Amino acid sequence: MLYIISLIIHVLSVVIWIGGVAFVTMITFPMIQRGSSSLEQVMMFQGIEHRFSKIAKVMVILAGLSGLYLIYEKYGFDFKNLNVGVWIMIIVWAFYASLLFGLEKIIFKKMFSTPTGEQADTKKIFKILQGFHWVVLALSFLAIAAGIWTGHY
Ligand code: HEM
Repeated sequence: MLYIISLIIHVLSVVIWIGGVAFVTMITFPMIQRGSSSLEQVMMFQGIEHRFSKIAKVMVILAGLSGLYLIYEKYGFDFKNLNVGVWIMIIVWAFYASLLFGLEKIIFKKMFSTPTGEQADTKKIFKILQGFHWVVLALSFLAIAAGIWTGHY
């Protein structure tokens, strides 16, 4: 019973978190790019990012904890016996967690500050950020496929 509850929590947290990433990538970024001024673009981005990052953090923690419980139930914490699918999920999860809990802040700071102190080229930055989100989304789809494969092969 606990196994099923953990699996439901695991999949639901992944749905909310990766669904959010998909929405930001497919809807929000194109909208931001249509913004008229750099200030408007940055404000819109920060507002959405600020709200979503809180939700994403909670979901990433829930996905990780429920994933650990699933490993405990299914493999008795014997990490030698984990199949490729579980390792793919763990690697993608670790990448996301490091982004959300630190790396992202450092990257944004670097991107929006210029060595001479003049205004950064926001159009270019948002293009790069959108490209990066597509890569992250593709990795997430891979992790979802890996999870389904692990559970059903
Ligand atoms: C990007 C992060 C992750 C995604 C997208 C993801 C996705 C999924 C999905 C969709 C399933 C469904 C299985 C089914 O159809 O029954 C699943 C199962 C599973 N996940 Fe994850 N997961 C992620 C992170 C993790 C982490 C960090 C762990 C371990 C710490 C983990 C451990 C597991 C295990 C052990 C199962 C197998 C359940 C079974 O065999 O029934 N996952 N995952």
